[in-house]
Amino acid sequence: MTDTTPPNKTALITGLSGQDGSYLAEFLLENGYDVHGTVRRSSVNNHWRIDEVRRTVGDKAAERLHVHYADLADSASLSRLLTETNPGEVYNLAAQSHVAVSFETPESTADVTGTGAARLLEAIRLHNPEIRFYQASSSEMFGSTPPPQNESTELHPRSPYGCAKVYAHHLTINYRESYDMFAVSGILFNHESPRRGENFVTRKISLAAARIKAGLQDELVLGNLDARRDWGFAGDYVKAMWLMLQNDAPSDYVIATGEDHSVEEFCVAAFSSLDMDWRDHVRTDPSFIRPAEVDHLLGDPTKAERELSWKPEISFSGLVELMVEADYQRAT
Ligand code: NAP
Ligand code: GDD
Repeated sequence: MTDTTPPNKTALITGLSGQDGSYLAEFLLENGYDVHGTVRRSSVNNHWRIDEVRRTVGDKAAERLHVHYADLADSASLSRLLTETNPGEVYNLAAQSHVAVSFETPESTADVTGTGAARLLEAIRLHNPEIRFYQASSSEMFGSTPPPQNESTELHPRSPYGCAKVYAHHLTINYRESYDMFAVSGILFNHESPRRGENFVTRKISLAAARIKAGLQDELVLGNLDARRDWGFAGDYVKAMWLMLQNDAPSDYVIATGEDHSVEEFCVAAFSSLDMDWRDHVRTDPSFIRPAEVDHLLGDPTKAERELSWKPEISFSGLVELMVEADYQRAT
């Protein structure tokens, strides 16, 4: 018999105030969803990305965006939220997401980035195991395993953050296999945007280049310039998250561009887009070198292209220009 139940177009996003939370909320609101998103209490207002979402989608669609306090370290807050919002889809994007910081705070990173996923999965299982669940897994899980990396590549994390993500990743698979839940992981390679946090390398570079050009800053101090990453645009990547939850069957996917660049190449592109030579402004300092480095991430997104018809739309040079232009507008 055909199922005539209308789809539950209510989504819950943990980490609404973050880069991906904001782009995903925007995408879902534009596609008719009611969106509930979590924030944490902070001593200063850090909701600027949520304000941007409201501006981008307009007043009418913004009425379908609902903001809630919740914490991945607080099981009761997650259970309460599921009862209050009754979502059809849950996107677990909240995390302590900074790799270098995870070396300073390994225990709380494990608690939020790793055990947080366990709290949420268990709350979903008890509330309604029919909910479709997306886990924000990471290419950082591949660590030292050489590229190109795909869904079958061995996981060898090189940071407390990477270890916590590996736990959450395997637990998501475990809930799928144990309870037949529609629980999937997107193994996303680095994705950036003008909404990227200022202490990730791409935004640190675009912001500094813009501020140096505007006469607001003298130099940029970085760590390892040789690290290579597969950088894409966050707005492209949140579409892949949604596509994974619309699939007929749950499965995990690598989301990447299939193209890699070094940190130095990002510097060259960012400074030259403002007619500057990066070598005049950038110096390195060992304090930004991590206890263990991930040298080279380069994803193979063949499975996502084949099964989700997903392809990134913004190129590396387009991404750099987008970020530098936005930061230059902000600086001037
Ligand atoms: P982000 O900008 O750092 O956002 C992280 C979000 O998590 C923020 O909203 C943050 O809230 C929230 N959060 C942190 N601790 C929390 C807690 N204890 N309880 C509830 N919320 C908490 O990260 P992103 O770049 O959007 O990434 C989204 C997810 O994808 C993360 O899980 C990240 O690890 C993963 N990922 C990212 C990339 C990438 O390249 N961007 C690649 C692979 C995987 P505050 O604003 O209050 O801090
Ligand atoms: N943050 C930062 N700051 N990184 C620097 C700097 C610096 O001053 N100088 C060099 N790097 C190098 C880092 O050592 C790393 O090799 C590379 O630039 C990228 O660093 P980040 O931008 O901090 O990103 P990440 O790759 O460590 O982690 C991001 O991508 C992961 C997916 O691979 C984060 O978004 C993670 O949450 C995500 O899972």
